Amino acid sequence: MKGVVLAGGTGSRLRPLTHIINKHLLPVGELPMIQYAIDKLSQAGIQDVLVITGKQSASLYVDYLGSGDLFGVNLTYKIQEKAGGIAQALALAEDFVGEGEKFVVILGDNLFLDPLQPMIETFYQQDEGAMVILKEVEDPRRYGVATLKHNQIERIIEKPEHPASPFAVTGIYLYDSSVFEIIKSQSPSARGEMEITDVNNVYAATGALAHMFLTGWWIDAGTHESLFQATLLVRKGYS
Ligand code: DAU
Repeated sequence: MKGVVLAGGTGSRLRPLTHIINKHLLPVGELPMIQYAIDKLSQAGIQDVLVITGKQSASLYVDYLGSGDLFGVNLTYKIQEKAGGIAQALALAEDFVGEGEKFVVILGDNLFLDPLQPMIETFYQQDEGAMVILKEVEDPRRYGVATLKHNQIERIIEKPEHPASPFAVTGIYLYDSSVFEIIKSQSPSARGEMEITDVNNVYAATGALAHMFLTGWWIDAGTHESLFQATLLVRKGYS
């Protein structure tokens, strides 16, 4: 299986820090944020990894990560010209993934304790479709929120004002190459972005969206407060 790390976007919730450097290069504890995703993939035995960044700070990713050798992976880089949404960034992975292949995607601002292996192994057993990884949280309004019926995802609502469940969709996704045709069939949302939630809802509508839950901590380090929390979490112990 291959891995894709999405590290584009504007990082607007981390301004003014992101005026000078891309979000995923900001320090979380002793490491730049992106290294946590790379290490997770490497620890799961995934060697071929695509990093998708914006133009801002792009050369710094190469300065730090290089070929990936030091991190036990073989890196490929792609540039998302303009932040147009997670699904738009993901579309850039089509040639890298190849027809009929399965792959795992990590949003570069997501840090988590659980290993990826169990998710990858379970997804290998799945005939087709996609899998999202959920985490029960106290206030899910910042996230995609999944409603479940008979242990199956019915639908995901992106950043609902009144969440129908406590189950946040984390930035860990597993797909087969059918995702690229689905992305092509989508249009930008009201906020002008190609939404990963719309893509995932296409799978949910046909019962092809599996899910698993994280058992350890998870954090989306995309705000000042959560970046601070992420630093505390990784200092407490990260494996
Ligand atoms: O963290 C989990 C949440 O991530 C999910 O619950 C939501 O369903 C999902 O939409 C996403 O929400 P965010 O508002 O946190 O997404 P954000 O715009 O912060 O983007 C997350 C990552 O995706 C970011 O670290 C970099 C990458 N990205 C984002 C955009 C908009 C790109 O590579 N390109 C982009 O154009």
